[in-house]
Amino acid sequence: MLFPLLTLSASTRKVAVSRDFTALSGFFVSSFLYFNGDISLKSVKIGLCGLGTVGSSTFNVMVRNSDEISSRAGCQITVAQVGARRDHPACDLRDVAVSRDIFEVVDNADIDIIVELIGGTTVAKEVVERAIANGKHVVTANKALIAEFGNDIFAAAQKQGVTIAYEAAVAGGIPIIKALREGLAANRIEWLAGIINGTGNFILTEMADKGRDFVDVLKEAQALGYAEADPTFDIEGIDAAHKLVILASLAFAMPLQYNKVFTEGISCIETKDIDYAKKLGYHIKHLGIARRVGESIELRVHPTLIPEKRLIANVNGVMNAIVIKGDAVGPTLYCGAGAGAEPTASAVIADIVDIARQISRDSQPSIPSLGFNEVSDKPLRSIADVQTAYYLRVLVEDKPGVLSQITTILSEAGISVEAMQQSEPEEGEVLAEVVVVTNRVQQQHLLGAVNRIETLASIHGNVHKIRVESLG
Ligand code: HSE
Repeated sequence: MLFPLLTLSASTRKVAVSRDFTALSGFFVSSFLYFNGDISLKSVKIGLCGLGTVGSSTFNVMVRNSDEISSRAGCQITVAQVGARRDHPACDLRDVAVSRDIFEVVDNADIDIIVELIGGTTVAKEVVERAIANGKHVVTANKALIAEFGNDIFAAAQKQGVTIAYEAAVAGGIPIIKALREGLAANRIEWLAGIINGTGNFILTEMADKGRDFVDVLKEAQALGYAEADPTFDIEGIDAAHKLVILASLAFAMPLQYNKVFTEGISCIETKDIDYAKKLGYHIKHLGIARRVGESIELRVHPTLIPEKRLIANVNGVMNAIVIKGDAVGPTLYCGAGAGAEPTASAVIADIVDIARQISRDSQPSIPSLGFNEVSDKPLRSIADVQTAYYLRVLVEDKPGVLSQITTILSEAGISVEAMQQSEPEEGEVLAEVVVVTNRVQQQHLLGAVNRIETLASIHGNVHKIRVESLG
């Protein structure tokens, strides 16, 4: 049977139909080209800058899986030089040139790809900018650098005709950048929601499962190499906000706008919130959410109640997970280790292999996430206008009429109550805790009602609020 071959032209809206398969033979040959074992043909040289947790693992995985990696790339990939202030005890550097001056690596004319694993936005930024100016491709795991300076970095890279690849910057070992850029390329993305900070998820999971102390779990996450140098980045949602803007830039073809993300951390979550949520059929996760609403985009990071039946609600420990809803494909879930040395190294090396393939086949380099010029004015939605359901927890005097005062205020604000629960006061106590789950409501309306509730004489302290998303 013959299948007609279609060539689509968006500008003319004409469809050319051919029954001649020879027209496509070149495509099939190049798409299914495989490596024939002769790695002497072309060699791609790597300059590895930074030999910390991720750098040392990248080096070791490259050495350990050298044959597989070169075979998949279709060329020989070698670490030609390492730039690091000190050696790493886990790395055998005998067969590689090591320089204490990172810029010596960046300026090394033999090197094709600079792998920036220094972190931060000072020296790392200089390294990346100079590598681009020197005409080198760059692989980086640096989410802060891409989120805060990516627009300029991509523009410089485009001018120089080099590639910037940053798979490892988001969700550790999960190939989420490739999923967005390649696998979901056909879709108009409606929303994405992700657990994109492993440390935060590790902390919430340990609190939920073992009732462990927040600070104690954080120390363990630091010892395991999950946490950022400054762990407030993990706890206060800064790290997740960095990752969210990177995902949103790809999903919605928009510039990186890190400073516009609404960010709320997990330090306000108490074990009792996790327990109440559980009783109501929810798990609490720290989510990064990007959603298209009409012509505008919401960008927010905050703790969120998710129905326990959702797969993402059951992603625990240091694991990350991202749900992406495309108009054609529907919701898809990507899950895996979101932090840690080797998972991150896995993503770094995937980018190296990608670029090595390009170089060795002399194809055009590609610049991820450029191409947003015509939609760069897409407005960001103010958090005041964002609609979600809410979990509210408040301490009340255990006397008649209090519950109805709360529900009256909510109902006067047009907010309905989906679920409500009151705990019995402890022995000898007069205060009880009330938990309410509302319907979806704009934040500004919710805050108006909460302010009124907080003025009631029978209420003690503030109303504790956590957003709820059905992710359906
Ligand atoms: N601190 C980050 C996390 C590391 O916990 O997810 C990976 O980006």
